[in-house]
Amino acid sequence: MQEKKTVRTGIVGSGFSATFHYHALSKIYGTVVDVVGVYSIDKSTAVPYAKDRNIRNFDRIEELIDEVDVVHVCVPPISHEEVSVAALSRNKFVICEKPLTGYFGDGSDQFHGDKFPRQKALDAALGSCERILDAEAKSQGRLLYAENWVYMPSIQKEREILEKTGGQILWIHGEEAHSGSHAAYYAYWKNGGGGVLIGKGCHPLTAALYLKRVEGRARDGKPIRPKTVTARAHALTRMPTFRDEGLIRCDYHDIDDFSMIHVTFEDGTLATVFASDIVVGGIHNWLEICANNHRARCNINPNTAMETYNPIEANFKDIYVVEKIETKAGWACTSPDEDWFTGYPQEMEAFYRTVAYGQEPESDSLLAADSISTIYSAYLSAERDGAAVEIKTF
Ligand SMILES: NC(=O)c1ccc[n+]([C@@H]2O[C@H](COP(=O)([O-])OP(=O)(O)OC[C@H]3O[C@@H](n4cnc5c(N)ncnc54)[C@H](O)[C@@H]3O)[C@@H](O)[C@H]2O)c1
Repeated sequence: MQEKKTVRTGIVGSGFSATFHYHALSKIYGTVVDVVGVYSIDKSTAVPYAKDRNIRNFDRIEELIDEVDVVHVCVPPISHEEVSVAALSRNKFVICEKPLTGYFGDGSDQFHGDKFPRQKALDAALGSCERILDAEAKSQGRLLYAENWVYMPSIQKEREILEKTGGQILWIHGEEAHSGSHAAYYAYWKNGGGGVLIGKGCHPLTAALYLKRVEGRARDGKPIRPKTVTARAHALTRMPTFRDEGLIRCDYHDIDDFSMIHVTFEDGTLATVFASDIVVGGIHNWLEICANNHRARCNINPNTAMETYNPIEANFKDIYVVEKIETKAGWACTSPDEDWFTGYPQEMEAFYRTVAYGQEPESDSLLAADSISTIYSAYLSAERDGAAVEIKTF
């Protein structure tokens, strides 16, 4: 048996994703992971984050990068480029959270997401992608794109079906939706680089782009890339007619909360993706593949791996049921291992095999860049009431 290699790890950021990244690292079995430390601009969370995990808290990001082999980019999207390029230019591997990058406004107090030309956002986002790809091309490291949907067990099962049957996907449709993101910063375009179209839409969209890449790779030795997109983006909870019943978050400043993306690939086939913050009943994540030789429904969340009936809500007060569910009373699709269905541990296991043993990643910088290009082309299409926009691929 091959001896396990040790990989030294640094985490940048000390919030929500830094927490689930660290948790997923604890499940890695093919590599020995040595988490050296954390760097975050917020010392009030970085210090306890480091203390709780018995790792070092670094005062300077460069010092952390110099001591590790791989850097986890667990910071808001506006800082993904800066942190990724800093690590790549020091020849380190990067595990970058979604979305790869974006357009975050002009930095002025007057900036408002409803009031700028979308072409500007597309140009800026593509420029940022180019700078990241350029830094990677010059680096001995690589950028591994932490799109967990790629590594979900159901999506990887679909990969196997495509590879072994040579099937042609004619239409993929899917959705990520719930009743609104928890983070206060999410309400502002300047923080997220957009609204639900990028924040949630990136997940099913990237899974669809990935599966068409797998299909092309398996049959013809080259990926099938996205060609055009038509999209709509709406702000339903900001409409004066919206009636607030206290179940759906509705304090967004300047972002979309319902979006639809329709992609045409270079072989003429289709993907349709919905993303919204207006759906009650728990998180709704699914992808359906309609191929010429099979059909697959990836029921990510909810799914029926386990169903519980709880007559008295209080009995489940200490029991995690499923993400974003409003009530624990009655029937629920309780997830016995949500992380597993979500692909977090599988994603980290695969990335560390790339870092330690050179295994080719399924989710890489080109997939990430295609996703960004499609999303900002979609925002441009939405500005034009759904007119088709050509997608630039790298
Ligand atoms: N894949 C998923 O399911 C998933 C889920 C949640 C968040 N995310 C992604 O993770 C990223 C971070 O989101 P989050 O929810 O962890 O946010 P968060 O606000 O909980 O944490 C962000 C952390 O980054 C730190 N930070 C901010 N700017 C920094 C900088 N320039 N240098 C160093 N530290 C900095 C903050 O102090 C904070 O500790 C986002 O890109 C988000 O889209 C992915």
